[in-house]
Amino acid sequence: MHFLRTIQIFSLVEFLCLANFLLGHEQSSDHTESHSCGDQYSESCNIAKNGDLTNEEMFERGHMKPFGSHRPPDYIVEELPYMISPEDFYMNYVVKHKPVVFKGAVKYWPAYAKWTDEYLNSTYGSERFHMETRDDDKWNIPPDMRLDEFLSQYNHSNRYLVDEVLPDMRKDVVLPLCLRCEEMSSYFFVSYFWMSTGGTSSAIHIDTDENILCVIRGHKAVHMVSPVYSTYLYSDEARVLGVSDINPQAVDLEKYPNVMKIKYHSAMVEEGDIVYIPQMWWHQVISRPERQQAVALWWKSKPSLKKLGRLASPLQQLKSVDKEKYSFGNILAEYELWMQNVSDIAPRLECKAQQIFMSDYQFESDKIEDAPQTQGDGGHLEEELGLKKSDLDKPENNNLKPCDFDYTNKKSPCHFSSCWEEDETNNKCIRYILDYCLHYDDRGCVHQLPQLMTKLGSSEYKEIQQMPSDF
Ligand SMILES: *[C@@H]1O[C@H](CO)[C@@H](O)[C@H](O)[C@H]1NC(C)=O
Ligand SMILES: *[C@@H]1O[C@H](CO)[C@@H](O)[C@H](O)[C@H]1NC(C)=O
Ligand SMILES: *[C@@H]1O[C@H](CO)[C@@H](O)[C@H](O)[C@H]1NC(C)=O
Repeated sequence: MHFLRTIQIFSLVEFLCLANFLLGHEQSSDHTESHSCGDQYSESCNIAKNGDLTNEEMFERGHMKPFGSHRPPDYIVEELPYMISPEDFYMNYVVKHKPVVFKGAVKYWPAYAKWTDEYLNSTYGSERFHMETRDDDKWNIPPDMRLDEFLSQYNHSNRYLVDEVLPDMRKDVVLPLCLRCEEMSSYFFVSYFWMSTGGTSSAIHIDTDENILCVIRGHKAVHMVSPVYSTYLYSDEARVLGVSDINPQAVDLEKYPNVMKIKYHSAMVEEGDIVYIPQMWWHQVISRPERQQAVALWWKSKPSLKKLGRLASPLQQLKSVDKEKYSFGNILAEYELWMQNVSDIAPRLECKAQQIFMSDYQFESDKIEDAPQTQGDGGHLEEELGLKKSDLDKPENNNLKPCDFDYTNKKSPCHFSSCWEEDETNNKCIRYILDYCLHYDDRGCVHQLPQLMTKLGSSEYKEIQQMPSDF
């Protein structure tokens, strides 16, 4: 057993080195500069690099076309094939307002498997949900509707469902690991359930909270624009603050020529993916024409930055400043620059609730009462386990597990005296275990055999191979 510890320590060191390497690699390679496109819904992929396009060319490509047609995305949003810790997420993405996609993170949610139309109909059919309509008149809000009624017509209607996730439905949603820290979770604001038959596109708009969008069904393309470019989206001329008047389905580049100056980010969000959309970032969400379900989770931003008293945000300063001086677009841009500025000094999250003591875990050796401390290599197994030979002969008389091999198998090394009466590293015992492990699928073989073998020199091993076997 003590050999195993050595092995584990080595592999831990190796693992840490590997993790550091990967992490360093991850940080130094800037995915966002990549121009490759995955499954693109617009025609903007695979065309000339941005620098190669003149204004005339961009106009030609983009005028009265969907947003993003005028030039390919300047940044492809980073995709992570794994979920990350809240500290990592907060320090490397949230604080820096850096969008990111977590691939496949929703696939283990119960909702991913359960939320068929039939299930939703039979479980929540009589609940009423708020509806919106694809015809974009935001102010003509259709009434609530029973879910069973919606499900019977959504395939052929302009309506889509947007409402808070019912408390009962939350049982099917796994809170993403990246948010499992009270310094974020205590600022949760709202969660939305979103369902439609797809083919929808949102306006280009901002949300004032941090937002992760979790795609349960369907595929989405998300275009994101830093608030730094707010005025190029004509934010000051908008009828509704925070919702650009530009029609993203057919951008009028005669009326809105500055759109061509915008550098935008593009994310392909597939079934099961999660995308992080930073607070105050302009975004447009395009859903493929297919059954769509998503859960969006919003939380209030930057709780710990508020502790930085000496750095008030420009939005707070604004109250005392001449309003003429700042346009809405400029404020958003200033705010973003400030956010980037302070991101370096943001205190790391503490996530106190995550701090679980080692004493809350059990180690295998804890399960053996009064186990003496390890004696170093070659200690007698019986001694180590605090057992007497007589205990081994009568396993039914004690509920300990004195042997790593299958005690119930009469052929197992647990019943082979050479392995118990002598040092367990004796060659007779090892030869027996080798033969046994060729015949039986036993956890002890995986657990013990490699440890015993690492102790052997190659000449000793040859000797063992040639020994007569007691098996
Ligand atoms: C929903 O369930 C009701 C019965 O409770 C059934 O009459 C209706 O056809 C179902 N609708 C859908 C869309 O499955
Ligand atoms: C709506 O479409 C989905 C597949 O896209 C299908 O499973 C469902 O049965 C349809 N519902 C109705 C009421 O036609
Ligand atoms: C960013 O920080 C620098 C120096 O710390 C300061 O001069 C500048 O005004 C800051 N910019 C913003 C937008 O806060």
